[in-house]
Amino acid sequence: MALSGAVHGFVGYIGRGPCPCKRLSSWKFFKNCSIPWDMNTPLDLNGVTVWKGLLDRDAQENIVAALRILAEAAPFRTYLTPGGKAMSVRMTGAGPLAWVSDRSGYGYAPLQPDGGAWPEIPACLFDVWRQVAEDAPLPDSCLVNFYGEGTKMGMHQDRDEAELSHPVVSISLGDEALFRVGGRKRGGPTKSVWLASGDVAVLSGEARLAYHGIDRVRFGSGTLLPKGGRINVTLRVAGAYSSRNSAARAPERSG
Ligand code: SIN
Ligand code: FE2
Repeated sequence: MALSGAVHGFVGYIGRGPCPCKRLSSWKFFKNCSIPWDMNTPLDLNGVTVWKGLLDRDAQENIVAALRILAEAAPFRTYLTPGGKAMSVRMTGAGPLAWVSDRSGYGYAPLQPDGGAWPEIPACLFDVWRQVAEDAPLPDSCLVNFYGEGTKMGMHQDRDEAELSHPVVSISLGDEALFRVGGRKRGGPTKSVWLASGDVAVLSGEARLAYHGIDRVRFGSGTLLPKGGRINVTLRVAGAYSSRNSAARAPERSG
């Protein structure tokens, strides 16, 4: 049940449960909720915090400009899953460690696949981290995902980091994407929300290890990226380099 922003501030909220504005108690009353969405009240999606519209257009454009420079130093690449399947989402990274994947597994690498150093994490991304994860140490790893037409990302946990208590901060830019969140075990009930450009999701606490994925992207729905597509930037505290540590139990990330 997708809801129109005209009748409810929670654009794209999907699923049954208490109204996220916490002022109405039942999903069936959503249609009647005319209370404007409160920027200070994030959505709670199975414990994952979703800040709708956290980043204004200027902030989004600044980040995209920084990512264009980043991608000159570290181009987007197609990674293989440990099973040898090409991921549909193209990826690059920044920071002392960046997330990579190949036949040897998922994990963090201090160098790009061609041996070059990763660029530094753009300062504007630290600003976002400080807004939503102020108590956590600063991230040392930035993953940049590019979703072109027809791409998606399978349900997975983020668990390649040395220390799993620090939050994961995920920034959406460009086209809208259907974000699905489950629990800590695969296959349980899930909730979904359409993420729009400028939305920021935080996986922390009990939901730090929540299964999550992107079911689909509404290609061409956004105005930020002239050629369409979606960029997702994920900031993490990777902590320590360990050679690919998750191949043995790797769920295939991408469809
Ligand atoms: C991810 O979990 O790595 C990406 C999530 C997203 O694209 O929003
Ligand atoms: Fe993830």
